[in-house]
Amino acid sequence: MTATPVYPPFLSAPRLSARNLVAVPLRLAGNRWGWDFAAMQAALTPATRLLLLCHPHNPVGRAWDKAELTELAAFCKRHDLVVCSDEIHCDLILDADRQHLPLAGIDADIARRCITLMAPSKTFNIPGLGCAFAVIADAELRQRFCAEMRGIVPDVNVLGLSAAEAAYRDCADWRAALLDALRSNRERVQAALAVMPGLRMTHVEATYLAWIDARGLGVEHPEKLFEAAGVGLSRGSDFGFQGWVRLNFGCPRATLEAALERMSVACCETLR
Ligand SMILES: Cc1ncc(COP(=O)(O)O)c(C=O)c1O
Repeated sequence: MTATPVYPPFLSAPRLSARNLVAVPLRLAGNRWGWDFAAMQAALTPATRLLLLCHPHNPVGRAWDKAELTELAAFCKRHDLVVCSDEIHCDLILDADRQHLPLAGIDADIARRCITLMAPSKTFNIPGLGCAFAVIADAELRQRFCAEMRGIVPDVNVLGLSAAEAAYRDCADWRAALLDALRSNRERVQAALAVMPGLRMTHVEATYLAWIDARGLGVEHPEKLFEAAGVGLSRGSDFGFQGWVRLNFGCPRATLEAALERMSVACCETLR
């Protein structure tokens, strides 16, 4: 089971492992994305074994809060689910008054069910060095995970390991400066989108991604419209939502300004 819209590999991984996927849409209420526990309950089957969680969530930019995580944990315990919690964006919480809360930190019971995935690759922009890690408290679950990944996941190489060590040990100042830049870009994107005809977005609490509802433009493939205008956005249907696009604002301010200007012109021309 997973909640859509979501990072596309969440949709393809079950199929590639010969499993069925139960995809339940998140709910947009009061301009904020949240869980639809009633729909999840209804979609569950006796064969449902695992929840694929994205926290913070790519693409909707929510950092799930304690109440939501507690309810999720209760749901997983009630239905005896293991949780694969992808927390790769955990060091990119943009709201200054928020902190990342790992799902496994809710209580010991949920910790026993959790496979928590993390990596320095997003925060420090080193995905090419390929160094990620899993935190699995339960020994039996850890052994099953290690057995399954043998022959699929390559070993960590020494460059990636050294880079991860340097990032976590020595680069707190760099990360603080990154967060300042991303917060400023987020404010700019939110302000620009608020007055861009045909587009809507919600507040981005975490990540460098804006999930944009482009259905107001009345075009079938908004990403093609923006690409023709010189802006490469991710296609919503890849995340399970047709008519939406995802903007990555983890870029220099001048690049972002040029993109927003081109998007604005494209929207105005489409709705003229
Ligand atoms: C939620 C999530 N998980 C995993 C990844 C993959 O990370 P990596 O590039 O380090 O393999 C991404 C990259 O976009 C992501 O957003």
